[in-house]
Amino acid sequence: MDEETRFEKRYLDKDLPWDVKRRDFNLANLVEDGTITPCKVLEVGCGTGDNAIYLAKKSFQVTACDASKTAISMAREKAQKKGVNIMFHKLDFLKEEVPGAPFDFIFDRGCFHSFDLKEERSLYANNAALLLQNDGLWLSLIGSADDVMRTTGPPKHSAQDIVEAVEPFFEIRFLKASHFDSDQVPPARIWVCLMQKRKMPV
Ligand SMILES: C[S@@+](CC[C@H](N)C(=O)[O-])C[C@H]1O[C@@H](n2cnc3c(N)ncnc32)[C@H](O)[C@@H]1O
Repeated sequence: MDEETRFEKRYLDKDLPWDVKRRDFNLANLVEDGTITPCKVLEVGCGTGDNAIYLAKKSFQVTACDASKTAISMAREKAQKKGVNIMFHKLDFLKEEVPGAPFDFIFDRGCFHSFDLKEERSLYANNAALLLQNDGLWLSLIGSADDVMRTTGPPKHSAQDIVEAVEPFFEIRFLKASHFDSDQVPPARIWVCLMQKRKMPV
């Protein structure tokens, strides 16, 4: 099953454990403390849109994409109700071009981590770098391999998985242990990874 079909089915079945219907505090803390300031942002794998809406309300110029057409239509409806202006695109981030580049900042919560293959994570990181301005930032919230054993739950990655995929394209500003903003007890552990696009060789 490809990514689009896998997630589309979960949105249609309303099988959405990640959809906590609020912005994630791991993003909000970095906006509130000024680490990330209002700019042109792309959210990859935006789901039903709460983080994109949060960023739009904080004066970011937001583009958001997702491979699931149901997710995009739910996110569009929610943004309309909240009265915020967001450019939504239904597209596959690994295979399709994202309109509106270059961006200053990319955010994803649980999209990069959904790729099992090293080659896919590497392609994702390369695509993110190509869509960013020089020095642009990427913040990714990634399920951690250090989490407890669970029968269900987000994909889990080691710090090494992340570093291998992103380092050719990004300098890692920090890689910090945290947990998802979630109602699950205990919430799933994650890596909060803030990266800066590497300077192009001159
Ligand atoms: C775990 S969900 C997280 C959704 C949202 N970020 C949130 O936190 O609620 C992963 C999201 O990534 C999207 N996704 C997966 N593969 C994708 C791809 N290749 N291109 C764009 N979106 C993708 C899925 O459709 C899904 O909405």
